[in-house]
Amino acid sequence: MKTESLIYFSSRSGNCHRFVEKLGLPATRLPIGPQEMSPIATKPYVLLLPTYGGGGTKGAVPKEVIQFLNIEENRLFLRGVIAAGNTNFGDAYAIAGDIVAQKCRVPYLYRFELLGTAKDVQSVKDGLQTFWQHAHNESFS
Ligand SMILES: Cc1cc2nc3c(=O)[nH]c(=O)nc-3n(C[C@H](O)[C@H](O)[C@H](O)COP(=O)(O)O)c2cc1C
Repeated sequence: MKTESLIYFSSRSGNCHRFVEKLGLPATRLPIGPQEMSPIATKPYVLLLPTYGGGGTKGAVPKEVIQFLNIEENRLFLRGVIAAGNTNFGDAYAIAGDIVAQKCRVPYLYRFELLGTAKDVQSVKDGLQTFWQHAHNESFS
């Protein structure tokens, strides 16, 4: 992965934050709580977010992420989504990723549970590298 970026949200429990730290890739964390000014993406990125619906779809996408995606540029530069969750929530496991992928018409690249395992970290690292390589190839074909 070169200059393309990862933008992520993680609540105070910080599971996604710890996962992203383990990736060792440049990444921007969305601020927690309502913001007057949401960050604006300036280049293609993949979004990583946790699920907070408590087993349903309502509230599954954190409000901070909704605020961020309400900005047109942020939707335009979004290329794919990775979501976290907890399999205890059954069908609603990591459903935030399904919602964002469907609404923004981008691929749902990967889902992982809680902090993610070492295997998840490696899969996401490898997957992002391949994903961005393909993105480059496509734009030059
Ligand atoms: C109130 C609450 C609701 C949650 N709802 C869901 C859910 O609907 N589906 C799911 O897969 N995980 C759900 N989770 C699990 C979180 O997505 C998971 O703990 C995640 O690792 C949190 O990431 P964060 O610490 O970076 O915010 C929920 C967690 C909490 C505390």
